[in-house]
Amino acid sequence: MNEEQFKAHEALVKELNDPALRAEYARAYDNYKPGIVARLLGYLLVGSGTLVYGKKPSYSKFKAIEVIARIPYQSWEVATYTLLTGLYSNEKRAIELTKTSTFSREAQDNETLHVVVLAQICKRLKCDGFFRHFLIPILFAFFYFWTIYILYMLSRRSALELNYIFENHAYHQYQQFLVEDGERLRDTPVYSEFLTFYGRNPRNEYELFELIRNDELVHRNRSIRELQAKKG
Ligand SMILES: [Fe+2]
Ligand SMILES: [Fe+2]
Repeated sequence: MNEEQFKAHEALVKELNDPALRAEYARAYDNYKPGIVARLLGYLLVGSGTLVYGKKPSYSKFKAIEVIARIPYQSWEVATYTLLTGLYSNEKRAIELTKTSTFSREAQDNETLHVVVLAQICKRLKCDGFFRHFLIPILFAFFYFWTIYILYMLSRRSALELNYIFENHAYHQYQQFLVEDGERLRDTPVYSEFLTFYGRNPRNEYELFELIRNDELVHRNRSIRELQAKKG
């Protein structure tokens, strides 16, 4: 993402630490009703995550969430690139697809930060087993990539709405983690070179997870804003 977009996103996620502002920002899409296809796929996606990693938020569950969370953005980017190949002459559609592509590139970098930092935490706490936390998410990511690619080609709306459901789930899981483990998180320092490289300096895990929670809320809302921008 470019410097300006990065600064705007960072300013927004810091602002969203304010509970009143966050509630107001969330309210715009809290009651959004995705269509049946996205709801069904979302149910399967969130349900299988709960089955393998449990209902309660945990570092190892977050690591798996973050491996998966990057996928739709990469998949959309490849899908928009494919679609643009056949749509050079339709300027309106080209603008719309390029906008989604910009969002997906920004979000990919952001999700990469999440997964790298969580992988570091899991490595330190030794909470990353080979099957449950490496092999399953990697294999799942492969199939998910192509599922989303095909879904995006068939119904861009369903692909974005499915992402809304997934990001909404991630947002609430991080919020629950902050509420339940807040005190411990405030006393836990963060060690990650990638965070500094990215341009973030949280003083402890509480501040880290606050920012990640806010990132997910931005991703959630933006998935639907992209759709509505198309309608508008
Ligand atoms: Fe994330
Ligand atoms: Fe996200």
